[in-house]
Amino acid sequence: MDQLVISGGVPLQGKVSISGAKNAALPLLCTTLLTSQVMTFTNVPNLKDVNTLLKLLASMGVVIEQDQKQIQLSSSQSIAPFASYDLVKTMRASVLVLGPLLTRFGEAKVSLPGGCAIGERPVDLHIKGLQAMGAEIEIEQGYIVAHAKKLKGARIFMDTVTVTGTENLMMAAVLAEGTTVLENAAREPEVVDLAQCLINMGAKIKGHGSDVITIEGVTQLGGTAYSIMPDRIETGTFLVAAAATGGDVLLQGTRAHSLDAVLDKLAEANALIDVTEDSIRIRMKGVNHGVSLRTAPYPAFPTDMQAQFMAMNAVAHGTTVVTETIFENRFMHVQELRRLGANIEVEGNSAIIRGVPKLDGATVMATDLRASASLVIAGLIAHGETVIDRIYHLDRGYECIEEKLSNLGANIKRRVTEVH
Ligand code: EPZ
Repeated sequence: MDQLVISGGVPLQGKVSISGAKNAALPLLCTTLLTSQVMTFTNVPNLKDVNTLLKLLASMGVVIEQDQKQIQLSSSQSIAPFASYDLVKTMRASVLVLGPLLTRFGEAKVSLPGGCAIGERPVDLHIKGLQAMGAEIEIEQGYIVAHAKKLKGARIFMDTVTVTGTENLMMAAVLAEGTTVLENAAREPEVVDLAQCLINMGAKIKGHGSDVITIEGVTQLGGTAYSIMPDRIETGTFLVAAAATGGDVLLQGTRAHSLDAVLDKLAEANALIDVTEDSIRIRMKGVNHGVSLRTAPYPAFPTDMQAQFMAMNAVAHGTTVVTETIFENRFMHVQELRRLGANIEVEGNSAIIRGVPKLDGATVMATDLRASASLVIAGLIAHGETVIDRIYHLDRGYECIEEKLSNLGANIKRRVTEVH
C-alpha cells in the first residue's frame, strides 16, 4: 500500500487550483441513467471514487467516452439495472443509482452499502422515500430489490438530513407521475448543483438549497452539458493547511460563498482572508488561536472539515472543543494525531484539544478520507518526518494532493510499497 512521506515545518506559499467536487460529481454522473440522450460533464475530478462509479455505470451498459477535458455518457441502449456488492462496498455513494434506475426502468437491484468506518450510515430514508412513491422494495441477501410500474409523486418528510438521500429521491421524483415534496431536505451546494443540472435536462424543480424541495414529474428528460462545481471540501482542506503552516496561499477556481462557516472559523483562528468571484487568499495575521466548532448540516459547519481543523487546533495557542453531531465514529484521526504529540481527550462526541508547542513526525495510519487529510496537515506542521500509511483513503477524494502541496513548497513524496 502506498505511503506519503512528509518533512514538516515549511509554510505553504503560492497558488493552487481547486478540482471539481467529488460530492457533486457522484450524483451528477448518475443523471445519465435518467435520459437516453448524451450527458457531457467537464471539470470532473480524477478520483478513485469517481472512477469506481464510472466502472459501475459501465457495468450496467452505460457507454462512456472520456478525454482530458470531458466525460460523455449515454444510456440509450439496454441497461442492466444491477449494482453489485463488489463495486458498492468500495463506494457507498453507488446507492445513488437506485432512484434513477427505478424511475426510468421500473426496477433496480442495488447492493446495500456495507459498513463505513465513520458510522453506520443506513439508507433507510432512501428506501422509505421510494416506498412512499409507490416502489415495492425487499431486502434479499444484502441487496435492495426494487420494482415500480411508475413512481407517483408524494410528500416525503426525512427524519434526518441526508445529502445522498435527498439526491436519490430528487432524481427518482423528476420522472415520477405528479408532484413530490421533500421536507427536511439537505441544503448542501452539491444538492443545488444536481438540481440545476436536472433543470437543464428539463426537470421541474423548486426550492433546491432550502429544506423544502418541490419536484413536478415530467415524462422524459433530455441530455445536457454541465460543469462540475469546485470542491468546497478540497478548498477548505488547503485553507486549513495554509493557516496551520503559517503560510500565504491563493486558491484559484473556487467559490467562497459555499464556505461561509469555514471561512468564519478560520478568521476566528486569526487568519486574514481575501475573496474574489473565483479565488480565496489566506494568510495568518499572527499566532494560530485555534477555534472550537460543532458540525451540523449545511449551511452550518461541515462534518467533512472537522478532522482538518483538529490538526490545526493541535498546535494552537489555547484549548478548543470540536463536537461531531453527524457521524458516530468520526474521531479516528485522534489516536493518530496523539502519535504525533497532540494532546486530545475525547468525551462522547466531543474532543478537547489542548494546543501544544509542536508536533513531532512519526508513522501514522490513515483510516478514512478526511482523517487522512487531517494527518497530511499534521505532517506538514510536525517537526521531522511523518509517514502516512494506507493513503488509498486519501486518493478517494483528493486529486494529485502531493503534487499540489509540493507546488506550494511542501516537502512531500509518495512512496510506492510492494503489494504484499
Ligand atoms: C454526504 O454523505 C457526503 N457524501 C459525505 O461526505 C458527508 O460527510 C455527508 O453527506 C454529510 O455532509 C456524498 O455526498 C457522496 P449520510 P451522505 O450517510 O449523504 C443518517 C466525504 O468525506 N442517515 O446520509 O451519504 C446517517 O446515519 C463524505 O466526502 C440515516 O439515518 O451522508 C448520518 O447520521 C463522507 N438514514 C446522516 O444521516 C438514511 O437513510 C448523514 O449521513 C441516510 C442517512
